[in-house]
Amino acid sequence: MIGPGGFEGMKDVLTALALLSAPALVLVLYGTRGPGGEGADVVRPLAAIEEGRVAFADACARCHGRLGRGGTGGPSLVTPALRALPDAALREAIRGHVRALSEPLLDDIVAYLRERQRIEAAR
Ligand code: HEC
Repeated sequence: MIGPGGFEGMKDVLTALALLSAPALVLVLYGTRGPGGEGADVVRPLAAIEEGRVAFADACARCHGRLGRGGTGGPSLVTPALRALPDAALREAIRGHVRALSEPLLDDIVAYLRERQRIEAAR
């Protein structure tokens, strides 16, 4: 039975429920994986980040920009979406179009990208 509030009262209840569940959804999307996904939360050695910066400037910057913000032929690599991507998927995306990278160099480039993503997210 619909009470004295009728459909209007029901609508209010539904609106309230929707408003209440929105933060819960955000929590599910971000809270369980951390703000940047598993990969972004790993602490990288400073030396790897520095090596990665040099390698990125050499192999990636001409398309993705020196800071990975894109706009020079390639997309931005410092978006929240890419930050949320696990390391394995990020590596795959890189491997998909840049083949001549050793595993250690790929580690370094991922370390640099994670640092850039962390900085951009904190801006
Ligand atoms: C010749 C230009 C070029 C170079 C050099 C290049 N990229 Fe890309 N990259 C692109 C383009 C264009 C795309 C978008 C491809 C697509 O959307 O299918 C892309 C996509 C990506 C993506 C996936 C982005 C997304 O939103 O899914 C990553 C990660 C990436 N590049 C990293 C790198 C890294 C790291 C290097 C250096 C090792 C590099 N790229 C070198 C042009 C380049």
